[in-house]
Amino acid sequence: MRSVTILGSTGSVGTQALDVVRRNPERFKVIGLSAAGTNEELLAGQIREFLPPVVGIADEEAAEEVRTHLGSIRGVDFVVGPEAAERLASEAEADIVLNALVGSSGLGPTLAALQSGKTLALANKESLVVGGELVMDLIKGEPERLLPVDSEHAALAMALRGERREDLKRVVLTGSGGPFRGWTATELAKASMKEALQHPVWSMGPKITIDSATLMNKGLEVIEAHYLFGLEYSQIHVLIHPEGLVHAIAEFRDGSMRAEMATADMRLPIQLALAWPERLPTGVASLPLTESPLTFEPVDHEAFPAVDLAYRVGGLGLTFPAVMNAANEVAVMAFLEGKISLPRIVEIVQTIVDEHEPPSVVSVVHIERADIWARRRTAEIIEAR
Ligand SMILES: NC(=O)c1ccc[n+]([C@@H]2O[C@H](COP(=O)([O-])OP(=O)(O)OC[C@H]3O[C@@H](n4cnc5c(N)ncnc54)[C@H](OP(=O)(O)O)[C@@H]3O)[C@@H](O)[C@H]2O)c1
Repeated sequence: MRSVTILGSTGSVGTQALDVVRRNPERFKVIGLSAAGTNEELLAGQIREFLPPVVGIADEEAAEEVRTHLGSIRGVDFVVGPEAAERLASEAEADIVLNALVGSSGLGPTLAALQSGKTLALANKESLVVGGELVMDLIKGEPERLLPVDSEHAALAMALRGERREDLKRVVLTGSGGPFRGWTATELAKASMKEALQHPVWSMGPKITIDSATLMNKGLEVIEAHYLFGLEYSQIHVLIHPEGLVHAIAEFRDGSMRAEMATADMRLPIQLALAWPERLPTGVASLPLTESPLTFEPVDHEAFPAVDLAYRVGGLGLTFPAVMNAANEVAVMAFLEGKISLPRIVEIVQTIVDEHEPPSVVSVVHIERADIWARRRTAEIIEAR
């Protein structure tokens, strides 16, 4: 029996994680749930079903609403306010914390979970992009305290099981190409929000869905892989694989490759992280091997410059990845509000990266400063147009 805290329980990853728990009641016990508070009814339903001893809610008014929904419920304590997720990550006595928050606000809870000695199942890739060095410092000598939930990285962790690291030559992260695969840069300027939100393979939260449409998601994953697996950027490759069945490939120095294949269903990497190193029944459908070809194609870097930008930013290091991430979060929101076109997201991020003057060292404070600067400057550029 593992005790689990789920941060971001009302989101796409969070709800699927609760499904994994629901299917394996003898293996997992939920001892903490947290959300921002956008969906009070859903959160109240989760609290009623799983009865966690502690619940964190970022928004104070939403917390009141949730309490009203619940009526008189015993044995559930509430932690309320912007620091609620971080406090839960640190204070609730869980064996494992699943960080399924979205955006750079996930960094604090990631550091808190690891600093308090817990194992972290990490869906929040932004934590590693923004503060990769700080995160990896906390698990030196204990790599199994950080378990990837992102499907490509979970697939790589499986592909590398039992292999000697010195035998690994390179890895390939695959991506379906998103809803605009094959579109030219000119066509992309006319892409609508509705089209961008219709991912061909995965059903996910809005931010990562837009990141998948620009391929920024793949760029963030390249930086994530660099930190998680200690790889040089030159060892990390990206290929478009429209069927979305092969999630990652590890190639070894003898030329052999191990590809991890599965139906695109996040419950698989979630259960793998929560139960590591065991495999549990997930309800994920078997692959219909005779029904689908497997095709791979290169990224169209002209139409989708985000991947190249992420390699450049990853190589620059320091606070550049934090700045790229913050600018992207603001620009994605502006696209979702109808203020800018899809290609403008990456154009603006590129401008912010070019303007950035980094400090010579990286700490939480330096990252926060860079993040604030990038958000303010991105908003200025968007409003100026
Ligand atoms: N979705 C996928 O299939 C998938 C796959 C791979 C990786 N990921 C990564 O997993 C992370 C989560 O993605 P998602 O698609 O699940 O996002 P999502 O559906 O938008 O859910 C985000 C969750 O975080 C909560 N939240 C947001 N800000 C918060 C704050 N300040 N304090 C506390 N809770 C907060 C939200 O609460 P409310 O509901 O109250 O707003 C919600 O529960 C992202 O980093 C994404 O890149 C997702």
